[in-house]
Amino acid sequence: MESGSWRFLLSVVPLILYVFFAIYTNNVHTSSKPAIRGCSLLPHDHYWIASKRIVTPHEIIFGAVEINSGVIVSVIKEKDMPGKVKNVPLIDYGEAVVMPGLIDVHAHLDDPGRTEWEGFPSGTKAAAAGGITTLIDMPLNSFPSTVSEETLQLKIEAAKGSIYVNVGFWGGLVPENAFNASILENLLNAGALGLKSFMCPSGINDFPMTDASHIKEGLSVLAKYKRPLLVHAEKQQEVELKDGSDDPRLYSTYLKTRPASMEETAIRELLTISKDTKIGGVAEGAHLHVVHLSDSRSSLELIKEAKVNGDSITVETCPHYLAFSAEAIPDGDTRFKCAPPIRDAPNKEKLWEALMDGDIDMLSSDHSPSAPELKLFAEGDFLRAWGGISSLQFVLPVTWSYGLKYGVTLEKLVSWWSEKPAKLAGQDLKGAIESGKHADIAVWEPEEEFDLDENHSVHVKHPSISAYMGSRLAGKVLATFVNGNLVFEDGKHAPGACGTTILA
Ligand SMILES: *[C@@H]1O[C@H](CO)[C@@H](O)[C@H](O)[C@H]1NC(C)=O
Ligand SMILES: *[C@@H]1O[C@H](CO)[C@@H](O)[C@H](O)[C@H]1NC(C)=O
Ligand SMILES: [Zn+2]
Repeated sequence: MESGSWRFLLSVVPLILYVFFAIYTNNVHTSSKPAIRGCSLLPHDHYWIASKRIVTPHEIIFGAVEINSGVIVSVIKEKDMPGKVKNVPLIDYGEAVVMPGLIDVHAHLDDPGRTEWEGFPSGTKAAAAGGITTLIDMPLNSFPSTVSEETLQLKIEAAKGSIYVNVGFWGGLVPENAFNASILENLLNAGALGLKSFMCPSGINDFPMTDASHIKEGLSVLAKYKRPLLVHAEKQQEVELKDGSDDPRLYSTYLKTRPASMEETAIRELLTISKDTKIGGVAEGAHLHVVHLSDSRSSLELIKEAKVNGDSITVETCPHYLAFSAEAIPDGDTRFKCAPPIRDAPNKEKLWEALMDGDIDMLSSDHSPSAPELKLFAEGDFLRAWGGISSLQFVLPVTWSYGLKYGVTLEKLVSWWSEKPAKLAGQDLKGAIESGKHADIAVWEPEEEFDLDENHSVHVKHPSISAYMGSRLAGKVLATFVNGNLVFEDGKHAPGACGTTILA
């Protein structure tokens, strides 16, 4: 093509797009500064989002949210719109719910080092498609594990230019660094939002388990930084498997190897240390967070007691413990293997009850995929398959769909998935639709149902290993805004991966 036609195209294409957009937003475009090329599916930096269901910290309103340069600058009710919303584009989402984007405090994206399992690009595309605007990546399953300043730098490098949502990082507390305060301090100074440790083998050789003395040391360093320690609370026990009745293809066999008493024993031990986090305690300022609680009986009771006693402690559970029960897991279907395991149906009922009552503080995905051959190999051998559920993109519709019969509300969703996680991760400017907060927003249709199958807009690297494939769910994500950029809409992502790394 000759240069004259190029010039013509260059001048006319933006004009056509501009006119199209002006019609689409039903408004007149004025002089707002265009967003960085490719970061947003919108050409605006300053705009309004309107809806009949905006979930704010105090109430659900019919109104509009004004966004400018990545920040929420005002939230107003419908009656005030005529005077205020003018000369700036408005996107009207009608009846769709506008709420804070989800903050997933527990995801394994396996980058760098095991990107054949997931990776930042596919993982954060899945997050964006699921209404998750921030996720905190776990320090293990990537290679190397994030246990020092240097290994954190590798993560930050790997994330650069390849994340579609915001990503923060937990560092690892392992025996190798637990007694060396300078390693831990360097890791925290470099931006780790807190630390994570295991009370049982992690499944990854270069991320060994910690004992009570390591945890005590870690907490004393964290106290100075006022950051949390996240703990995988299961303590190994010798479980005798009887010959004959212990077919490794049966889910019940796997369940027997990880009884609820493993969680209870670990939590009992943890609570001898959590006392230190009380006001006046030797680790005041530090905080303990129990990840992915599955046992809703004794373990939960212990945590409730510790809270009453003034320990600084919180607990999360995950959608798979709320959606599935052991009785219904098909033999050989290792997609459902995770640790701690999914327990019986009455346990699940009690988890919902605890969540609705606020005894469980928040939810996280614990998205923990692997290569399909590790997850689905060996003819359904539950004892040898990779443990971890692939769920990142679906946690919002799963929580909503399965929660309906327990009385889930939009406010509860925001508390479990945005407000409390923001607090845990020390992100005061996230987790709410409120003036001054970051414009991290999910727009979704709770009433819209869809069938989940591997061929339809699933963005994780290995859709087939997800236990949710084949489910019918309610709650379709329409649009996701990250830092004011429209990063996902109608099944499409913005071309640029413009999420930011969140460093403490
Ligand atoms: C802590 O680790 C650093 C870096 O590996 C090392 O130089 C230092 O000697 C260690 N300190 C102690 C007390 O072990
Ligand atoms: C997805 O597509 C593949 C290839 O076309 C096909 O073999 C498979 O059955 C499809 N899966 C579903 C759930 O439709
Ligand atoms: Zn995990």
